[in-house]
Amino acid sequence: MQPFTLLIVYLKGLAISSNMCYNNNIVQFIRLRKEVIMSPKEEFIAIYEENIKRPGADKLLEFLKKSDFFTAPSSTRFHGSYEGGLVQHSLNVYHCLKDYLSRPRTKELYRMDFSEESIAIVALLHDICKVNFYTTEMRNRKNEETGQWEKVPVYTINDTLPYGHGEKSVYIISGYLYGEGRLTRDEAFAIRWHMGFSGIEDKNTIGKALEMYPLAFALHVADMEATYFLEGSNK
Ligand SMILES: [Fe+2]
Ligand SMILES: [Fe+2]
Repeated sequence: MQPFTLLIVYLKGLAISSNMCYNNNIVQFIRLRKEVIMSPKEEFIAIYEENIKRPGADKLLEFLKKSDFFTAPSSTRFHGSYEGGLVQHSLNVYHCLKDYLSRPRTKELYRMDFSEESIAIVALLHDICKVNFYTTEMRNRKNEETGQWEKVPVYTINDTLPYGHGEKSVYIISGYLYGEGRLTRDEAFAIRWHMGFSGIEDKNTIGKALEMYPLAFALHVADMEATYFLEGSNK
């Protein structure tokens, strides 16, 4: 980002915060702000609050803020195995899903037409099952440069609520989004089956669910795209 552009962003921010000016540039400003200074946590919260408005959403976000969601890794050794990996993965899935659903083919031929709220819910919250799921422990590892053995922290699993994976995410979300604000059938099935055929369930059941609920298929594709192409073990 060029210094001049940064200056523009800063001046626009000042103008907005002091109510001096509010025009169509706000959209451009928000986009630039995300690229320049937003942390993954800030971006997650911005997308969440902008799109998820149903009853219970505020309490669910409070739960996330108090939990380890924003510091947890996304896996122990593979994709996103670093502090903050889970929130970054959730954002990656959101952007992949938005992109997938913007294709003319998915809209016109497959008739995939989901609300911004549904897209945000399923993408941002599909892996909420990983809250309070990881811990660290010290392991001996050989330092390749010095040849010395040393103790290093590694992530391990300590599942404090062994309820499964997608089904656990639905269970946790449903503790906050219920009654009027409950998950729609499309949303619940998408989160439940987001692992697709890499899940351990009966393959016929998975296939049936993906066929009946296209948002589940789309979320699975976005989850894999984020995992293998944006993250991966070496990124
Ligand atoms: Fe997952
Ligand atoms: Fe995921």
